Amino acid sequence: MDTLRSKVLEQISAVTDEATLEDLRVSTVGKKGEVSLKMRELGRMTPEERQVAGPALNALKDEVNAALTAKKAALADAVLNERLKTEWLDVTLPGRGRVAGTIHPVSQVTDEVTAIFADMGFGVAEGPQIESDWHNFDALNIPSHHPARGEMDTFYMHRAEGDNRPPHVLRTHTSPVQIRSMLGQGAPIRVICPGRVYRADYDQTHTPMFHQVEGLAIDTDISMANLKWVLEEFVKAFFEVDDVELRFRASHFPFTEPSAEVDIRCSWEGGQLKVGEGDDWLEILGSGMVHPKVLEAGGIDAAKYQGFAFGMGIDRIAMLKYGIPDLRAFFDSDLRWLRNYGFSALDQPNLASGLSR
Ligand code: DAH
Repeated sequence: MDTLRSKVLEQISAVTDEATLEDLRVSTVGKKGEVSLKMRELGRMTPEERQVAGPALNALKDEVNAALTAKKAALADAVLNERLKTEWLDVTLPGRGRVAGTIHPVSQVTDEVTAIFADMGFGVAEGPQIESDWHNFDALNIPSHHPARGEMDTFYMHRAEGDNRPPHVLRTHTSPVQIRSMLGQGAPIRVICPGRVYRADYDQTHTPMFHQVEGLAIDTDISMANLKWVLEEFVKAFFEVDDVELRFRASHFPFTEPSAEVDIRCSWEGGQLKVGEGDDWLEILGSGMVHPKVLEAGGIDAAKYQGFAFGMGIDRIAMLKYGIPDLRAFFDSDLRWLRNYGFSALDQPNLASGLSR
């Protein structure tokens, strides 16, 4: 029994993994294990022999079971220690830096424009990007044969076979929101309408999707002089300069009469744009007095009301103000570009604290 005892205890102490330990348990104290078989021999012993061998065997069985349990715990500890060693973590190290997202220049400039016009009493109106042919063209005095339709590089939606109604379009400008505002709220009106517009065009200054902001003011006593003042106020506030000079160039748009394209005086010294000084002129928008036919399409009495409208490229004025050379990069979602040209989410543009600080 002593031989068995020391053999088994030695084997247990030599085990290095749980599977071997389990095999050892089965072969010693398991049903047919060595210790268990020894206990069966008790039945063949004399009562005297049994009185000595019985307690000794029981003690041996207990001792082996205790050694197995202790070894099992030791092995589990070793496994845990091994994991702790490889998975250790210095909780006193600084946390992983999170790079804050940025506000896209288009969003920033839209907010800036909105803040400036809100200060002059303009609300914000929106319309659908998939627009009816009527809102995008006809109501704006661009009938189907009009050359302006061809110039716009319009994206047309698909109509089902046999459906002969004119197809919807991806709006080519924000001007249809003028019509929706007139029909929706009637006169008087003072709104700007920022949003996405679409044209099939692609180069350094054109992308198939871009952004415009439309302005519309209608009342009983609105004139070109109001348009001029509003645009001057806007340009000064937007470019954050005290003085600007605007040039109204006679032009033609089907939806305004008279129509004017507006340029601002600027200089391009050293490739750097300076607004308000110099000998160059920079075209920034189209505008005019709303055509009576457009007022009527919008359900407004043209004998009583008149108004001005303008349309401006948001991406374009963003490029000018923030010196961004290529429009296409605006929509590439390149993180390096966004971090370089983006704005802090915590600095909301407002006139009191400065637009772009
Ligand atoms: N819708 C014109 C365009 O996309 C811009 C425009 C010009 C809008 C004159 C107007 C306006 O409201 O009066 O080219």
